[in-house]
Amino acid sequence: MKSIALKDVRSKLPPLSDIKTLREHARKDIENGAVTSGYAADRKNVITMLNEALATELVCVLRYKRHYFMAAGIHAAPVAAEFLAHAAEEMSHADLIAKRIIELRGEPNFSPDGLAARSHAEYVEGDSLKGMIKEDLIAERIAIESYREMIAYLGDQDPTTHRMLEEILASEEEHAEDLSSLLEGMKDYEKL
Ligand SMILES: [Fe+2]
Ligand SMILES: [Fe+2]
Repeated sequence: MKSIALKDVRSKLPPLSDIKTLREHARKDIENGAVTSGYAADRKNVITMLNEALATELVCVLRYKRHYFMAAGIHAAPVAAEFLAHAAEEMSHADLIAKRIIELRGEPNFSPDGLAARSHAEYVEGDSLKGMIKEDLIAERIAIESYREMIAYLGDQDPTTHRMLEEILASEEEHAEDLSSLLEGMKDYEKL
């Protein structure tokens, strides 16, 4: 077998900084914590974007909680259980986003002032069980679109935020699927 020269292997490696440069960069601006000089995204824009995502998640928590208690009141136990599970997952998304904002040296905005305006999704109470499920599905579809756009905006400039948003996106897609199955199930029920 033909041996490969080290020079050829090196030329195939991605362009990495040498050890000295890496160490120098790490020592500079140490107060920036996890944000190093190699951070390629516009940090302020990313924080603003993440704060909008945080508001969206918080509005979704509130809407799902309202729907959970309303559905529980009309004895729709399986649907109520789904709403409650989604509320908990939206809260965990909010926590992930807030933690990332801190890592990026920003401040997570939990203020109720202007919360609905900062959120992409809306807080709609819904007038029936079906109406609630529909509104939740619409909100999930909004979240899916906005997370997809955020992921595309980031590209490879901030891999950690990128990966977190991809995980959240996958979860929102599951939520949308759960809700559309519930709606489908109701159609069968209505036929009886
Ligand atoms: Fe979420
Ligand atoms: Fe969701």
